Amino acid sequence: MAETATVLEAPLPTRDLSHNPKRYLVLGATSGIAEATCRIWAAEGANLFLVGRSEEKLRAMAGDLRVRGAAFVDIAATDLDRLEDHPGLLAHAITQLGGLDVAYLAFGILGEQPKAETDVAHAEQILHTNLTAPVSMLTWLANFCLKQGRGTLAVLSSVAGDRGRKSNYVYGASKAGLTAFVDGLRNRIDRDGVGVLTIKPGPVKTAMTAGMPGSEKFADVNAVAKDIANAIAKGEGGVMYVPAKWRPIMAVVRAIPDSVFKKLNL
Ligand SMILES: NC(=O)c1ccc[n+]([C@@H]2O[C@H](COP(=O)([O-])OP(=O)(O)OC[C@H]3O[C@@H](n4cnc5c(N)ncnc54)[C@H](OP(=O)(O)O)[C@@H]3O)[C@@H](O)[C@H]2O)c1
Repeated sequence: MAETATVLEAPLPTRDLSHNPKRYLVLGATSGIAEATCRIWAAEGANLFLVGRSEEKLRAMAGDLRVRGAAFVDIAATDLDRLEDHPGLLAHAITQLGGLDVAYLAFGILGEQPKAETDVAHAEQILHTNLTAPVSMLTWLANFCLKQGRGTLAVLSSVAGDRGRKSNYVYGASKAGLTAFVDGLRNRIDRDGVGVLTIKPGPVKTAMTAGMPGSEKFADVNAVAKDIANAIAKGEGGVMYVPAKWRPIMAVVRAIPDSVFKKLNL
């Protein structure tokens, strides 16, 4: 496994990327939202390094993205819960890509709220995958991007982090923590040329939400991916709600007094 310094010393481009300049590292690449975003990037001739748990799914996805126009696709199958593997994984991915323009963090678990109410180990698992693991990745990536003086870090948080609800407050807590971390990171490194984008989707039709009541009305994953890809292309960082209607909705949700909110069946 690579030492700390190896990540920060990952080489700058060695391959000719003049026609396909974007190099994307996608963590949690087999996520529904990430896969739809990767298809957009593939059609633009991107270079992609995909990380996920299932080698089978990653191989199938890589084949599909090559057919769609990706200039370069490589994969790594690993469990991102293993923090000790992060620096070696990042060094390998950045080396294979020949540098890094965008890191897209999409991995996450919804967990089971009723179980998490009595099983602390399950609550801890949700917090580990959704908060601790991204914090580890973003710390390594931020320092790499600072060193090269550029790059975009795009992170899938959630509207669920904007206010604790009785129906999913453990997942919500993990996303609230992630949102606060990413906000602070942006305020630290934005001025040094690194864009940090917090992405807060409302409910989207993916495997994560399949079978939920009302899921047929959830946002289309391709439309969500298009908005995300457009925001990342600007390279400016910031906070985006997707679909955009969730910004005013969550402003109202946050403004509801506690005395009223606790009586709502949310
Ligand atoms: N869908 C929504 O309504 C919604 C709304 C707001 C925010 N989000 C957030 O958006 C992100 C993507 O969600 P999605 O809807 O696309 O979900 P999804 O299709 O269920 O994908 C989640 C991905 O995370 C991966 N993953 C989970 N734990 C992992 C680990 N320890 N190591 C490596 N990979 C791991 C899963 O891999 P496996 O395939 O191996 O399980 C899967 O590819 C998540 O962070 C989610 O919280 C989603």
